[in-house]
Amino acid sequence: MATPTTQDQAFQQPRRRLLQGLAAAAVLPAAFARAAPAALTIRLSHVVAEDTPKGLAAKRFQALVQERSGGRILVTVYPDARLYGDHDEMQALQLGAVEMLAPSLSKFGRIGFPEFELFDLPYLFPDLAVVRRITQGALGQRMLDRLARQQLVGLGFMDNGFKHMSANRPLLEPAHFVGMRMRIQASRVIAAQMRALGARPVTLAFSETRQALAAHVVDGTENPISNFWTQSMNEVQTDLSLTQHAYLGYAFVANRRFWNAMAASDRELVGTALREALEFGNQIADTQNEKALAALRDAGGTRIHTPTPPQMARMRQAVEPVHTGLARRIGAAWLDDARKAIES
Ligand code: LMR
Repeated sequence: MATPTTQDQAFQQPRRRLLQGLAAAAVLPAAFARAAPAALTIRLSHVVAEDTPKGLAAKRFQALVQERSGGRILVTVYPDARLYGDHDEMQALQLGAVEMLAPSLSKFGRIGFPEFELFDLPYLFPDLAVVRRITQGALGQRMLDRLARQQLVGLGFMDNGFKHMSANRPLLEPAHFVGMRMRIQASRVIAAQMRALGARPVTLAFSETRQALAAHVVDGTENPISNFWTQSMNEVQTDLSLTQHAYLGYAFVANRRFWNAMAASDRELVGTALREALEFGNQIADTQNEKALAALRDAGGTRIHTPTPPQMARMRQAVEPVHTGLARRIGAAWLDDARKAIES
């Protein structure tokens, strides 16, 4: 478990980083203005590596906007939580220190949108095509529209893929999880999932996860393989269990004031470029995760396990109560609509 000192540091760091980031953000436009006379700069901050589905989609967005605006609109991408991380990025967006973010859907519950946590429900989606019935349909649009309540504009969804479990031991069935401290994102559904498996959930920022694993502050975690590989978590975890137990996706969001202040033609240009970048991200998500698995196998040193059908059945059975137990938090009507979309 985190010692009080570690936790104090973890909570003080974001405030310091927010101030540093605000200072950096204040000088950046001037620096870029000297390099290239962009009329408009969009700062897009995210927490993962560049060579991930989200990192590559962000780069594609940057290139499309640059090309179509003839350099008049500049997108600056800050990957790897270099500017803001999980603790402070929403605040930074609302304060206007950045114009865009791409948080995972699991991170919207704590800012007042628990319906986004339906995507965290274990074993809800058999494959990505089914997820897209929600994210690319009317229900997904309704979810994005609601973000206006927090001065955000929901611009679109994008997949990463399905999550797997890692630790210094196989995690293939509930008996393997007992007493394990598992790093999770700040989602009540994921916390309930870990408890249902017998583990102790520990909420940590993504950027702190690898270090916390290395220092044995936590014993294991869950993520799609692209995140596991690009964070070099294989250097601090010996076993990866291909449980494919739940989905991880993103919503790209903008600061509402910034978005509305743009000229209509620029909004159209930026919105279209983002839609195309998200489509590109969805096309490469699977292959990026497959490439990461192949790289992991090539690198050696990680034991990769696949649960047997009876182990899978025990996992499913253990987490079944999460669906009913968290229905009130997510909202029964949202869940009903999601189930209808899934079954359609
Ligand atoms: C995590 O925090 O585990 C991930 O959601 C990070 C990300 O954005 O993929």
